[in-house]
Amino acid sequence: MVNYSSHRLHILVLPYPSQGHINPLFQFARRLAGHTGVRCTVAVTRFVASSARPATTGSVHVAVFSDGCDDVGPEGVGGHRRPYFDRLSSAGPESVDWILRSESELGRPVHVVVYDAFLPWAQGVARRHGAACAAFLTQACAVDVLYTHLRASRIPHPPVLREEELPEVMAGLATRLELTDLPTFMVDKNRPPGLLELLMNQFAGLDTVDHVLVNSFHDLEPQEADYLATTWGAKTVGPTMPSVYLGNGLLDDDDASSGIHLQTPMTSECKAWLDDHPVLSVVYVSFGSIASLTSEQMAEVAEGLYRSGKPFLWVVRSTETTKLPANFTKRAKGRGLIVPWCPQLEVLAHPSVGCFVTHCGWNSTLEAISSGVPIVAMPHWSDQPTNAKYVQDVWHVGVRVPPDSEGVMRREEIEMCIRHVMEGKMCKEFKTRALEWSKKAKKAMSKGGSSDVNILDFLSNSARLDF
Ligand code: UDX
Repeated sequence: MVNYSSHRLHILVLPYPSQGHINPLFQFARRLAGHTGVRCTVAVTRFVASSARPATTGSVHVAVFSDGCDDVGPEGVGGHRRPYFDRLSSAGPESVDWILRSESELGRPVHVVVYDAFLPWAQGVARRHGAACAAFLTQACAVDVLYTHLRASRIPHPPVLREEELPEVMAGLATRLELTDLPTFMVDKNRPPGLLELLMNQFAGLDTVDHVLVNSFHDLEPQEADYLATTWGAKTVGPTMPSVYLGNGLLDDDDASSGIHLQTPMTSECKAWLDDHPVLSVVYVSFGSIASLTSEQMAEVAEGLYRSGKPFLWVVRSTETTKLPANFTKRAKGRGLIVPWCPQLEVLAHPSVGCFVTHCGWNSTLEAISSGVPIVAMPHWSDQPTNAKYVQDVWHVGVRVPPDSEGVMRREEIEMCIRHVMEGKMCKEFKTRALEWSKKAKKAMSKGGSSDVNILDFLSNSARLDF
């Protein structure tokens, strides 16, 4: 049995309740808990706790709070949109307050709250209990720089509709961005209500928190990370992937699939299928946990994949399967495997995977880069176009599929991009670059690496605070 009194530092980690946020914060918690004397508790919503399978190891504890949608989750109130955000920010604070009170009564008071910047109200809760606060930004540094400029009105208020409205050079960015490279909520006239506000609110109170942490690494985004360091005192602490994938195993980190999965992984089937294919032959396709493609776009992806002639592993979430073209699953048999979810990190680490067709969610992008897998970028919304721009023009680890005038990425382009990354003149170069980035990601998280130093700094500062 763990002797709680031996823990000098108790950290509560609070992710926004979606897979793309739970993963980085949960893995960060594991990283912290790998240090002697640190106890970590991850708080998830009641809905997440009941629908996911919290496969945690001994090092991380799970607590449960209410988002006001205990039985139905976000989807029950229209998805990750304003009605859900309103419920979460109304029910969340009191419920998280209760966790802090209970932990205190049990003799293990929380000293630091690491909160997802999507939940800025957590700062008030932490302060009421005398705990220190760390805001955790889950997007790329580049995207945080953009939102910082927007907040300071250095970019015109959205929607920005004309190229000429953009400043020629934006401080803190490695490259010039065009309209099509900006986060969609900055250019989309019909953006869903509440989303841009949620993103901008991440920066509320950043000047009063004790720490600002970002899931990236310095070598990957040096200008961007330095800009955030100067503006917010931010520190890069990523990639927050399980250490087994970064070649620097932590104690108590032997279970690579440990995590909180909102979907059911299909480990054995995927693994057997991947094992059956030659090195670097497979195209892995996934559009993350939220993106919902139109049936038209799904058909283009299906045909593009088929025409590429490559074997493919395609994650089609159960809510998306009806959009697959009729008979496609049958037609693709023998060529492709379609699964509702998979252990993505394990797949990216598999030798048979040659490229990743991705929506460029930040976790997927960072995971591909850290695993040395070249990318075919098919951004869908939010921060994804900016990540795709960096993939192609800054990190040179792949290509972005150009959309047509209606915004649809057509089969011919998808096929061409896959061929370009898997067999074209540039194929070797993409792979070499990706492997170089992977090495740098591993270095950042290894002893003495930039992220490792920042994590230690965060821990030692936290331990020094007078509780
Ligand atoms: C969301 C946003 O869409 C994204 O733009 C933002 O940067 C983070 O939050 P999501 O769309 O789910 O996230 O994409 P992503 O950031 O890539 O996160 C998905 C996570 O689910 C990754 O950690 C990935 O490894 C995991 N995953 C995905 C699986 O484990 N299995 C799968 O089959 C698919």
